Amino acid sequence: MTVGPAALAQRLTDAGHLPRAWHDAFIRVDRAAFLPDRIWVRVADGYEPVDRTAEPGRWRELAYRDEALVTQVDASGRVPSSSASMPSVVGTMLDALDIRQGQRVLEIGAGTGYNAALLSARLGDEHVTTVEVDPVLADGARAALKAIGHRPAVITGDGAGGWPGGAPYDRIIATCAVHDILRAWVEQTAPGGLIVLPWGTALRNGVLLRLMVEHAPDGPVASGPVIGDSAFMWMRAQAPARDVMAVVRGEGDRGRTRLDPSVLGDDDAWFAAGILVPGCRSAVGQGPDGEWTLWLADSATGSWASVDYEPDATEYEVRQHGPRLLWSEVEAAHAWWVRAGWPVRTRFGLTVASAGQWAWLDRPDNVLPADLREQ
Ligand SMILES: C[S@@+](CC[C@H](N)C(=O)[O-])C[C@H]1O[C@@H](n2cnc3c(N)ncnc32)[C@H](O)[C@@H]1O
Repeated sequence: MTVGPAALAQRLTDAGHLPRAWHDAFIRVDRAAFLPDRIWVRVADGYEPVDRTAEPGRWRELAYRDEALVTQVDASGRVPSSSASMPSVVGTMLDALDIRQGQRVLEIGAGTGYNAALLSARLGDEHVTTVEVDPVLADGARAALKAIGHRPAVITGDGAGGWPGGAPYDRIIATCAVHDILRAWVEQTAPGGLIVLPWGTALRNGVLLRLMVEHAPDGPVASGPVIGDSAFMWMRAQAPARDVMAVVRGEGDRGRTRLDPSVLGDDDAWFAAGILVPGCRSAVGQGPDGEWTLWLADSATGSWASVDYEPDATEYEVRQHGPRLLWSEVEAAHAWWVRAGWPVRTRFGLTVASAGQWAWLDRPDNVLPADLREQ
């Protein structure tokens, strides 16, 4: 494989992931200049380091692949805490941002600084602000940007508050996933401005949203559709707890269901369930001979449920425990999704207003039955 920024830009263009307006920026900004000497690749039980000095050829080949590269893992070595996003996703998000010369952009999640460099290459440093919560990463991004001659504002801090110092922005792009869209982002966006962000639920992370901000009499409102898929790491304060089994206590009330839990393997069904069954997380435990168990948990109420899948069965054993009957909620969500005509996730959208946020189907006034404003 030919390596280098020009070859990467060409591959992305050929695959239809790089709009013409961004082609030059992708050639001028060398992704390798933003990667740390140690990057991490996925292996069976976690992540394995690839060092630039020890394996220069492999490191360089990875740098120009259309893949997300983990640039930081937590102390366990199993959970990534920062990454250089997949170049095709970077291109798709920048395209969705629909920027014009002279506009001001705020990025949440500077990470390596690569995305901020691309924005600076198009708009000029003075039009770009990026916020990074991790001081080590923020320093690294600043240094990498400076080394290639860019000096956008790199703010070390929690992007949940946006960055009022540079507001209003014409565009906000988040490169970490959220469930609760931050009011500060909506307030710091100019009327008619756009927010592009990865959005997820406790069940499913996630999709890309493109929200347009209008300034209504009782405050700014952001609304817009799902435009595609994404798999970004969560904004640090919004990551759902990982350990589903920690919620499982006691026996649970036994019952049976005719809903085959494997139908929830359908991405669109699962996406709808994520919206309609808020705060619910899942895990799968493998059993012998093709059997498996779907576990659901809501740590806020201590509720959990399990469904035992058996091949060729027509009914499945269910256990439910706690004030929320999570499997019953998932069944109701699935029934709603079927009644709605199996909508794909790009038919959904989200509105964020001073009263809260809520999901809709096809049109902003066709609000989903789940009342997200109660969360
Ligand atoms: C996928 S990486 C960003 C990739 C980056 N845009 C790039 O070009 O390399 C997500 C980043 O979001 C950062 N992050 C997480 N929570 C944050 C928060 N509350 N405020 C600001 N940044 C945050 C992480 O530290 C991480 O560096």
